[in-house]
Amino acid sequence: MLNKNILIGVTGGIAAYKVVEVASRLKKLGANVRVMMTRHAAEFVAPRTFQEITGNAVSVEMFGDAANFHVAHIALADFADAILIAPATANFLGKAAHGIADDLLTTTILASDKPLIVAPAMNTKMFAHPATQDNLRILRARGVKILEPATGELACGTSGKGRLPEPVEICAAVEKIFAAGTLTGKRVLVTAGGTVEAIDPVRYIGNRSSGRMGFAIAQAALNAGADVVLISGKSDLAPPKNLTFVKVESATQMREAVLKHFDSVDAVIMSAAVADYRVKNPAAQKIKKSADTLTLELVKNPDILRELGGLKTSQVLVGFAAETQNILEYAGKKLVEKNLDFIVANDVTAAGAGFGVATNIASIIWRGGNVENFPMMSKDDLAVKIVERVAELLGGRKFFPSN
Ligand code: CTP
Repeated sequence: MLNKNILIGVTGGIAAYKVVEVASRLKKLGANVRVMMTRHAAEFVAPRTFQEITGNAVSVEMFGDAANFHVAHIALADFADAILIAPATANFLGKAAHGIADDLLTTTILASDKPLIVAPAMNTKMFAHPATQDNLRILRARGVKILEPATGELACGTSGKGRLPEPVEICAAVEKIFAAGTLTGKRVLVTAGGTVEAIDPVRYIGNRSSGRMGFAIAQAALNAGADVVLISGKSDLAPPKNLTFVKVESATQMREAVLKHFDSVDAVIMSAAVADYRVKNPAAQKIKKSADTLTLELVKNPDILRELGGLKTSQVLVGFAAETQNILEYAGKKLVEKNLDFIVANDVTAAGAGFGVATNIASIIWRGGNVENFPMMSKDDLAVKIVERVAELLGGRKFFPSN
């Protein structure tokens, strides 16, 4: 937090007094702290209290100091590396969700493109009200970090969800914004799910991929601070938030989407189950049942990863090999032929591995032949292992046996 500029916005709730401790802690952690308050907040805690704690003047009025007028909301917005609103009232959430700027605090957040952390605190029913929940959804979708209120005694004499989290937790959330992940500043492209190859407008050739592994990798890369592009074939999963999500159907569409982003990314992790063949001439109309047998002519799909292996400049390339026999041999061959940095191989027929289950049993094969064998683990945990290795390769350090 050293020398980070944190702007705290205090809105009018009884929990405002707890934010004095938040300001104090952030200051002790090395941050420069400024406070802006709504008029209602200033009824709960005197601006002077924050002024003494932070060593900086506290702003309340939009046009407070006419003599020193310098467009206060722009100056405050420019100051901030991150903005924390605590406590955030239901009224504030409504205004922030809809871009209403009718005082200094709401105008300042509208003038800022920096990370915004919001700690709602209010009566349980107000928090649960659909209007509040809708507003929270809008803010979350916009990338605002919302801290869950704690449950317990409330100032209004009731008990339930709506308490401001403890100052130490609020400070931890602010610190986390600045914690550089191992992939901060890197762009990672992940493919997931299975491609769908049309037979006619109703039927298709597909596969058993659920998309779980790829979605878990996208989430792990996001957690490590990367900008993530997730290109997904068929999957019923909801994509993680805060990434670029591209939905595709066929291998041809997936190839186009991948090539479009390839030049701008630092790594590609190709976990999609791409169909190797497509129907040569998909029927324009539904095929009617007639003869006892039906023959479909299939043609080979482009091998996306092989193509990337030929195009690659500095990108890290990771492939998957879903095998049913001779796993290491077949996967090792793909590693070399597709010019990959490493390949994640698994026996999709083993119990606890493969399609549609939450766990996987994988081996990572590196250039040079070194193999890491992992025990059965959740796809989320395996995703973290894969992302850690990509981060190591991009950082130029080699802790893993990649030769
Ligand atoms: N892959 C790809 N394009 C294809 C087929 C596969 O990009 N048309 C990628 C997969 O996403 C995976 C890797 O290549 O990362 C290996 O896929 P896999 O299906 O195991 O191998 P194939 O090369 O298709 O070989 P085979 O099906 O004969 O085992």
